[in-house]
Amino acid sequence: MSLLNTDYPVQLTHNGQAVEAAEIGARQLAVLNPDGFACARDEISQWPGYKPSPLYELDAVSRTLGVGGVWYKDESERFGLGSFKALGGAYAVVRLLKRELVSRGICNNEPSTQALLDGVYRGHLREIVITCATDGNHGRSVAWGCQLFGCGCVIYIHATVSEGRRKAIAAYGADVVRVPGNYDDAVRQAAKDAAELGRFVVSDTSYPGYMAVPRDVMQGYTLMAEEAFNQLPKGIIPTHIFLQGGVGGLAAAVTAQAWIRYGHQRPRCVVVEPDQAACLYESANRGEPVVVHGELDTLMAGLACGEVSLLAWDVLSEGASDFMTVTDDAAVDCMRLMADGRACHHHPLVAGESAVAGMAGLILAGQRDELRNALGLNADSQVLLIGSEGATDPELYTQLVGRSAEAVLGETV
Ligand SMILES: Cc1ncc(COP(=O)(O)O)c(C=O)c1O
Repeated sequence: MSLLNTDYPVQLTHNGQAVEAAEIGARQLAVLNPDGFACARDEISQWPGYKPSPLYELDAVSRTLGVGGVWYKDESERFGLGSFKALGGAYAVVRLLKRELVSRGICNNEPSTQALLDGVYRGHLREIVITCATDGNHGRSVAWGCQLFGCGCVIYIHATVSEGRRKAIAAYGADVVRVPGNYDDAVRQAAKDAAELGRFVVSDTSYPGYMAVPRDVMQGYTLMAEEAFNQLPKGIIPTHIFLQGGVGGLAAAVTAQAWIRYGHQRPRCVVVEPDQAACLYESANRGEPVVVHGELDTLMAGLACGEVSLLAWDVLSEGASDFMTVTDDAAVDCMRLMADGRACHHHPLVAGESAVAGMAGLILAGQRDELRNALGLNADSQVLLIGSEGATDPELYTQLVGRSAEAVLGETV
């Protein structure tokens, strides 16, 4: 029995630039490194409500595909925000605020997180306004971080970001501005207004001349990867990680952390994107960053990006082994597999549209001999998936799955 319709289109390309090196290279370490990881871990683990997100074994998936194990890191409850993005945007916010207090001469050294949380610098922080563009989850994280640490916040969303996602951001006290066009248009507008109005941009994507903040964002994500590696049963080292890609930040963070931790035993990292927004896939084929134009029309809103993050590319161009594309149909079927308890036996899981691209890539590849062979999937494989969001757009989730996230979790299978 197949888990997904075997006729669903899938594309796979091997990354011709991937390097074999056991040790992560200087180019990647300039982006993400052990010191940066230690800072992120020490910071984020102090925030109220921090706990590692759960790791589940998708036993029904591994059995059906005939692989050794499939592990799903479930970010649906992260800090109550519903996605892994809670780790990145908010981390970059607090780093920026600490630096700014020093550069304005208010503190001699970076203040402690507790001092910020206690409101010691409340008056000064209110004068700082942070801004970004988002398709939902990053903006929510930035807005939450701004509220937690007490600075101003203006978030830009593009034309097709749902009303549910807009409300979820506004709930953290941010001003939300809707602009025409796609995600990349919103990125440009946020940057332009910030330059005119003296706001600080906390973007999850990097571009020429703008690297420090998105590097912090990605470093925040590495905590999720390290948690997952620590949660795997003793002796299990992942052989494959299927990672969904938007601008590539998530995939790069997990790839780099795996490379640092596992060295010559590092897993094969496979980047999976929607076929309608496959900028990383196209870049891998071309051997350099490529812009994908157009509507970027995919249900996987968090992955609807047409331009790769240059920092992410520094990691993925040599660190990712393969790139894939999947369709919306496959993702929606994966959401249902999770909700019905047909993936994780007897345990329904709430996975949003963008959470399951990696899972769809694994299943579609695992069901076809030529793709299995191309990716080296076999009975010894231990596959890690990152369930990067829960029902972050509750109305859309209910529409796609047929019942609400609450109903899914209330059910026993
Ligand atoms: C739920 C979810 N998963 C994955 C991604 C992709 O992350 P990145 O843009 O860093 O590649 C996003 C981005 O917004 C997201 O919201």
